[in-house]
Amino acid sequence: MKILVTGGTGYIGSHTVVELIEAGNEPIIVDNLSNSNINVLDGIKGITGKAVPFYQVDVTDLDALRKVFCENNGINGIIHFAASKAVGESVKEPLKYYGNNLVGLMNILKCMKEFSVGSLVFSSSCTVYGQPDVLPVTENAPIKPALSPYGNTKQICEEIIRDTATSDNNIHAILLRYFNPIGAHPTALIGELPLGVPQNLIPYVTQTAAGIRECLTVFGDDYDTPDGSCIRDYINVTDLAKAHVVAVSRMENGKQKQNVEVFNIGTGKGTSVFEIVNSFEKVTGVKLNYKVGARREGDIEKVWADASFANNELGWKAEKSLDETIASAWNWQKSLKK
Ligand code: UFG
Repeated sequence: MKILVTGGTGYIGSHTVVELIEAGNEPIIVDNLSNSNINVLDGIKGITGKAVPFYQVDVTDLDALRKVFCENNGINGIIHFAASKAVGESVKEPLKYYGNNLVGLMNILKCMKEFSVGSLVFSSSCTVYGQPDVLPVTENAPIKPALSPYGNTKQICEEIIRDTATSDNNIHAILLRYFNPIGAHPTALIGELPLGVPQNLIPYVTQTAAGIRECLTVFGDDYDTPDGSCIRDYINVTDLAKAHVVAVSRMENGKQKQNVEVFNIGTGKGTSVFEIVNSFEKVTGVKLNYKVGARREGDIEKVWADASFANNELGWKAEKSLDETIASAWNWQKSLKK
């Protein structure tokens, strides 16, 4: 299948491009490089041996996007990653987030209609559940008011897709609600490249261990959890990438049961911040400099997935262990120092 991947040089996008190629598909990348590096294409080529067609295009530029579709006949499906994703920044610059994330998606949907492309995989997030009342959280849990403009864009994008698919039977979509993606490709040729000071836990951990940051702050140890730190469902990025390949094939093979389907993509297992620190020290043998600090505003106390719908319906399951995944993040960090 010919698959357009927006945000294809980004963290999850690049891993998905690799998995698409390894499953025999032909990806085409669209990315504006605002939060990724052109060298990622070399990493993808190093792993797969394939040079992927690349367009430096911003998805909010409808005319430029149209040109990509004009130059590439017969696109079967789209995996739409391109979006702004920093929660804190979204509070300071909400219009940037509404502009990029909503307009980008609407342009993709317009092109799908104009160029008769029927299948869309959309990057959603467990953020739509807020703090769930019941854990593990299923896809049927209520959507809670968003805690940030970023989270709100994910909720609104889901609605835009549903409304569009309701109005047009030719549009099919699978919404993947990611939990916390971490780790890097086992070759360490691609991985996460945070700009500036990392906001997310794992890059902060690996940069602290590498001596780039002085000390990790654990944001709160007085939560209602067994060790007092927050709990998340950390999913290996390659496992997550594979879910996209399965999702796009499901639509193309007419296996969908509804025009729009939603799947939690997580491991089903919750891990605390202290457990992450312990696992990191165990698998790398590196002592991590950390201290306990105040809670971070807007943090959810605990969330992990009920992934049984994805397991049973998609036939997809997270396979890699937490230790293996943390080791891959460390190998990636070390490769950056060279
Ligand atoms: N944490 C620390 N110290 C740090 C960074 C994080 O203790 O320096 C803790 C957080 O408090 C949280 C856990 O590590 O308990 C994970 O934090 P991340 O920032 O890595 O991830 P979040 O769960 O906050 O955010 C993720 C995605 C967001 C998404 C959000 C909700 O990164 O894009 O889940 O879905 F919005």
